[in-house]
Amino acid sequence: MPTLSVFGAQWGDEGKGKIIDGLARDADVVVRCQGGANAGHTVVVGEERFVLHHLPSGILHPEKLNLIGNGVAVDPLILFEELDGLAARGIEVTPNTLRVSAAAHVIFEHHRRVDGLAERWRGSGRIGTTGRGIGPCYADKAARTGLRVGDLVDPARLEERLAAALAEKNALLEKVYGEAPVSAAEVLDRYAPVAQRLGPFAADTGAEVRRAYKDGKSILFEGAQGAMLDLDHGTYPFVTSSNTGIAAIGSGAGFPPNRLERVLGIAKAYCTRVGEGPFPSEDGGAQGDLLRKRGNEYGATTGRPRRCGWLDLVALRYALELNGATGWVMTNLDVLTGFPKVPVCTGYAYAASEGRDPGLFPGHLADLGAVRPIVEERPGWTEDLTAVRRFEDLPPAARDYVSWIEDQVGTPVELLSVGPDRDQVIPR
Ligand code: IMP
Repeated sequence: MPTLSVFGAQWGDEGKGKIIDGLARDADVVVRCQGGANAGHTVVVGEERFVLHHLPSGILHPEKLNLIGNGVAVDPLILFEELDGLAARGIEVTPNTLRVSAAAHVIFEHHRRVDGLAERWRGSGRIGTTGRGIGPCYADKAARTGLRVGDLVDPARLEERLAAALAEKNALLEKVYGEAPVSAAEVLDRYAPVAQRLGPFAADTGAEVRRAYKDGKSILFEGAQGAMLDLDHGTYPFVTSSNTGIAAIGSGAGFPPNRLERVLGIAKAYCTRVGEGPFPSEDGGAQGDLLRKRGNEYGATTGRPRRCGWLDLVALRYALELNGATGWVMTNLDVLTGFPKVPVCTGYAYAASEGRDPGLFPGHLADLGAVRPIVEERPGWTEDLTAVRRFEDLPPAARDYVSWIEDQVGTPVELLSVGPDRDQVIPR
């Protein structure tokens, strides 16, 4: 396995954390390439539950090298909160096992403030962001006014670049939003201790991952969020502010994309979404509530109840094709136990539909908001799946559900997940 790349094939929260943690056993290097602390990867090890926002999921394997690539928006306060939390549970992370790209952009308090204010400004058009400052940080990156980890860990550069950034940000806060400005002195006081701690972790992670590849090491690229939240290919504007697909590995890790080999999408056996935006297979009724309850569908980052619905084959096929998936993992199959029938969205019906292919994902968001899902009901099952470890031991209806979906999307399911624990998986 020289390179294995994993991406979320829905709207995030597909259970990537657990799968990546398992796959990390066979990797030497685990790399995050995009997103920031808006992600929430939950990993359960025995009795212990770890929720990682910032750190690559390989961090729970002490001997791996974990890299946070240049494409990640780094929030140093949250990063060290997470590292301190791990240390309190006996997991010591050092610069031998974690490196953070000096070229990654830094999230400051003012990004979080602007995130919240911009949402208020949008009113009914709000995105429902995680409020972690991700969008404003990437906006500054594109505007060339952002600060990078390399600036943060250099006191003289930090002071100079921060003063320049705040001159503009304070004008925005005061004149547009009518809010109090940010004091550079206070920011420096708050960030100086973490900047000093971050220094030894800062590195050229692109060079490291390319060297690891040349040395024949196996590399796992860990995606965050999901394909439908991709800034370019998702349900814009109700998306996150980075590219969430496989293409982000090239730019966000500094790794040549033509060296990517195995690509795995992760998708739940049904669908969820947090935040606003169209969600054709959403079930806003009692069945959707039951999915939320049985699947414990509450955001790992914000605690928000997730919107729940049925598997959307149009969106899933699109995500797998767009990202060149060589296979995929179906998670949370156990959650579907007890539903007498399992609805699946097999196509989109358009209001003015002459000539439109119901199996194709529309390129324009207005169309997606107006489609009616075409639903087929599959037979359900009543057996508990959480202790099953072999495909042939699944109840026939569950086996049929997986095989039928596999046929519909045309990409093989490599693994099934039937519970939160590391070993609750079924190879296909
Ligand atoms: P932002 O990434 O905080 O700007 O939020 C933009 C949209 O992406 C919102 O709908 C969020 O709920 C969603 N989002 C961001 N990160 C995640 C994630 O890790 N899982 C699920 N949704 C996410």
